[in-house]
Amino acid sequence: MKKTVLVSGGAGFIGSHVSVELIQAGYDVVVADNLSNCDMTGYEGVCKITGRDDIPFVKTDFCSEEQTEALFSAYKIDAVIHFAAFKAVGESVAKPVMYYKNNLSSFLNVLEAASAHGCHNVLFSSSATVYGEPDKVPVTEESPRKPATSPYGNTKQMCEDILNDTVRATAGTEGEIKGILLRYFNPIGAHPSALIGELPRGIPNNLVPFITQTAIGRRECLSIFGNDYPTPDGTCLRDYIDIVDLAKAHVCAVARMLDGKMDKPCEVFNIGTGRPVSVLELVNSFEKVNHLKLNYKFAPRRDGDVTAIWADPTLANKVLGWKAERSVDETLAAAWAWEKHLAGK
Ligand code: WQD
Repeated sequence: MKKTVLVSGGAGFIGSHVSVELIQAGYDVVVADNLSNCDMTGYEGVCKITGRDDIPFVKTDFCSEEQTEALFSAYKIDAVIHFAAFKAVGESVAKPVMYYKNNLSSFLNVLEAASAHGCHNVLFSSSATVYGEPDKVPVTEESPRKPATSPYGNTKQMCEDILNDTVRATAGTEGEIKGILLRYFNPIGAHPSALIGELPRGIPNNLVPFITQTAIGRRECLSIFGNDYPTPDGTCLRDYIDIVDLAKAHVCAVARMLDGKMDKPCEVFNIGTGRPVSVLELVNSFEKVNHLKLNYKFAPRRDGDVTAIWADPTLANKVLGWKAERSVDETLAAAWAWEKHLAGK
């Protein structure tokens, strides 16, 4: 029997790519989203890429207990991947209550409904932000979590704890929950079809959308935040991971849960490449692979940025049997193709 995976926030950037990979791997997917931070482009892209016109889309606000409950009543869900959350670091500093309310209540409702409806498998989309400014790089899953530097980061830590506690409390009961936490590093790029990708509203906070919007002429100039960091070229180091690679990690994790292969009832994996790339290197690669010149300047450091963080992905490589495959160049070519698609070019 085909298993059904609920993707909360399934119309968003990561959710849409994960939905595609799940469907292509043979799962039934229910896409649910309240469309608060995206439109139907993501869902429509999923249908086009997979050639399917029968993928359920349910407009659901997971902050509503009733709507979440109704969704779990309407479908027999075998696993849920929870993406539905606000994700802008700066906005979370300005509007903490909104962030805590949204990100915590939606996850609590999902957990409650999953447990009540015999859905035993919950995958939570966490972030490398839980490591804060690491003492040692690369970071392994054993690296300490540091105090969060923003309410957004705090919600990720709190949801990790909530899942851990729920797994512990429900062990051996009818409403047993098993959990996987995937800690993403910096997801970038777009689907090679250029039918789905990132759709930031307003001025992008993240580097790659700012680069592609500058290249297409929507922004005048990219500011590189800080060139005096203690790194080889003075700019920050990150682990940029291709969005399709990242999506495939979810398929491996879901299979591990549904096939009963977990070693522990709550597992954590770093989802990154293990390859540090500086801001300047990323900009240079973008220019080279797409044969263009980017207008950029050096600007002061951005508050809250860590100098360097990248993953040790050994655990995910070994245990999930997953590895990031795409080069930075391939990913930046896909990001540019998506930006051009959006501009109708
Ligand atoms: C990357 C690098 C910037 C924009 C954030 C969240 C994290 C995660 C992903 C989100 C940094 C530099 C950026 C610009 C720049 N989750 N930069 N000019 O900060 O590593 O991670 O996004 O949902 O939780 O914290 O990603 O893309 O913002 O920045 O120089 O205009 O690019 O300083 O070094 P970050 P980012």
